[in-house]
Amino acid sequence: MNFNLSEEQLMIQQAARDFAQTELLPGVIERDNAQKFPHEQVKKMGELGLLGMMVDPKYGGAGMDSIAYVLAIEEIAKVDASAAVVMSVNNSLVCAGLEKFANEEQKMKYLKPLASGEVIGAFALSEPEAGSDATSQQTTAVDKGDHYILNGTKNWITNGGTATYYIVIAQTDPEKKHKGINAFIVEKGWKGFEIGPKEDKLGIRGSDTHSLLFTDVVVPKENRIGEDGFGFNFAMAVLNGGRIGIASQALGIASGAYELALKYAQTRKAFKTEIINHQAIAFKLADMATSIMAARMLCYKAAAEKDEGKDISEIGAMAKLYSSQVAMDTSIEAVQIHGGYGYVKEYHVERMMRDAKITQIYEGTSEIQKIVISRSIVKNSK
Ligand code: CAA
Repeated sequence: MNFNLSEEQLMIQQAARDFAQTELLPGVIERDNAQKFPHEQVKKMGELGLLGMMVDPKYGGAGMDSIAYVLAIEEIAKVDASAAVVMSVNNSLVCAGLEKFANEEQKMKYLKPLASGEVIGAFALSEPEAGSDATSQQTTAVDKGDHYILNGTKNWITNGGTATYYIVIAQTDPEKKHKGINAFIVEKGWKGFEIGPKEDKLGIRGSDTHSLLFTDVVVPKENRIGEDGFGFNFAMAVLNGGRIGIASQALGIASGAYELALKYAQTRKAFKTEIINHQAIAFKLADMATSIMAARMLCYKAAAEKDEGKDISEIGAMAKLYSSQVAMDTSIEAVQIHGGYGYVKEYHVERMMRDAKITQIYEGTSEIQKIVISRSIVKNSK
């Protein structure tokens, strides 16, 4: 086992850290206040290769490994968790799914612009009545020979308003249950495809979350991903990788909040000494540092196993379950260490606390991660 990062991985980590400090930090509070999407910054992330990090360069990607991806997301999320989710969804749910399962024509037409950051993508699985229970899809795609007719509503879609291409999951044959579900590539602007109003959210307010409405949208058959009936298995496979992205986002929120709390504790004085000299504060920081290291190790292990081509459903779920709890706990404690200052926006940690919550909800709630992990434990113990 080798815990050393390669030179290339360290370079990417440094590049993402520099980008976050120079491009994302200025304006992060304003974007959060105004729910403003970081258009300019996301464009630059594309130019740096951060939006298609693991995609083969022949499809416009940067051809890096999953550890480099975890390192980069952590650095971005330390400063701006909203930019990190834009990056995670485009890399893990959209580009990785297309690279692994789309055909050559689909890759050339859709993956190339998505991986190079020319455009961004969205992944539309959740519905008003199908969040955790993802097999209960109400969106329908009726087979009409050379095309499908798509009808339904998707909810809480990250990059919903800013995406150009959408992967949409829909039921084509309800009798076959999850084996009758398909995944389609849908383009913004197609007749009958409307984007609902932007959601007013607790956290990750710089990201762009919308419902999507489909009314008799004509989707050419060549835009179906994989064989007929593959859509649910596609979504599950893609989400296994996505959970590493969200785990890394959570890790970044935790380490960002910890670094601010440590710095504050070393400078703020109370009772005639820096507050880090009070055991009540020092022990909080010790707990934070320990749990962050454990979360980081889980993220690295999940990423390493993904690169080895192993089944990552269990380890990816573990990484997300644990890292999202660490993000929540650490950001709450960072606010506590900052005292009254922590409760005001200028000090960043209250935003991190609000941003942390979603990591326990999207790409499978913590309860869903426990279903995935427990089913895997049972299966492997037989
Ligand atoms: N990996 C691979 N395949 C999986 C899988 C996994 N983690 N989980 C389930 N499957 C497969 C099963 O093997 C089965 O396939 P076969 O029939 O071919 O064998 C099929 O999926 C159905 O599985 P189950 O019978 O276990 O289905 P279920 O209904 O009991 O439960 C679930 C499945 C795990 C609970 C699933 O519904 C789930 O993951 N729900 C959460 C959905 C989710 O994560 N939504 C996030 C939305 S996307 C998002 O948030 C993006 C964003 O904007 C940030």
